[in-house]
Amino acid sequence: MASSTWTRRHILSLADFMPSEYDMVLQTAVSFQEVLSRRTKKVPTLQGQVVTNLFFESSTRTRSSFELAAKRLSADILNFAPGTSSLTKGETILDTAKTYLAMGTDMMVIRHREAGVPQAIAAEMDRLGVNVGVLNAGDGLHEHPSQALLDLFTICTLLDSEHPRLSLLEGKKIAIVGDILHSRVARSNIWSLTASGAQVHLAGPPTLLPKLFADFVREESGVRSQESDLIQNSRFKIQNSPPTPHSPLPTHPLPRQLFLHWQIEPALQNADYVMTLRLQRERMTSHLLPSLREYHQRFGITRDRLQLCQPEVKVLHPGPVNRGVEISSDLMDDPQFSLISQQVTSGVAVRMALLYLMGGSR
Ligand code: NCD
Repeated sequence: MASSTWTRRHILSLADFMPSEYDMVLQTAVSFQEVLSRRTKKVPTLQGQVVTNLFFESSTRTRSSFELAAKRLSADILNFAPGTSSLTKGETILDTAKTYLAMGTDMMVIRHREAGVPQAIAAEMDRLGVNVGVLNAGDGLHEHPSQALLDLFTICTLLDSEHPRLSLLEGKKIAIVGDILHSRVARSNIWSLTASGAQVHLAGPPTLLPKLFADFVREESGVRSQESDLIQNSRFKIQNSPPTPHSPLPTHPLPRQLFLHWQIEPALQNADYVMTLRLQRERMTSHLLPSLREYHQRFGITRDRLQLCQPEVKVLHPGPVNRGVEISSDLMDDPQFSLISQQVTSGVAVRMALLYLMGGSR
């Protein structure tokens, strides 16, 4: 678990993550997975350090997973709940963060419905010259790095449980299906999976995967994308959507491969992994779908549809799941195909690794 070469104070985006950094996270998480398999599932690594969960938006698994990860590392953990906090009395987010700083917080884990909040808090901590690490636990439509890293860990440990590494995914076909437009999970996964040399195929109705998304990916990130199989006579109306917040240009040397489909079949054809995403209805400002039933018929992951994929195909979902909408209920619970509960389990080891690496770089 060498943290000596880890240089990032904050983890805000995967846009400029290098292969060596992915591998460091994966290998460190393997060590913590071993810790979590022991009878005493705790190590003193972060004893005396304070980790603060600042979740300004709802969360079940991410918040609990960070809390458990911090506890397993023996850190003291503070949990902030916006509904019962001084935010209701008009305190600003930056002042809330500074309050926790004054209590001795060493690392802040931040989720907010607006893109850019973790970045703003990290910039403020740097400006103040304090040695506090900020971890983005999901900002608006922008990114959710720890989710993409745990997805990567879940897949890579299936391929090599002792030495999971980014290069194991080279040449694999990975389909990401559903509400890409509103998904910060998809955006972070696009960075990690295309960095591995995998072919990443995005599929969704044009309203949830607008052509603009391809332009955004091309222009802002340098990822080479192709639009395939565009539906000419779609019953879904194409609508323009505002561009997502900008990520910095990647410094990654590999050519990245990303394909866009407005039909599911070409994305699933011979896929090794299928990642399906929740329809984020709370973020939809207009009627982007005819009905949930029609969505399921056209983009739902079912046993029948999996016949198009590789025989050993595995299905992932970051949760929470709308059962019977993005994935059929029986498939979700089928351990032969579904990695959903492994993703949740992996989340703790991966978040321990992130806190450990950030703590070590402080
Ligand atoms: C995701 C999120 O909040 O971005 N969930 C998660 O963190 N496990 C995806 C979602 O809400 O659909």
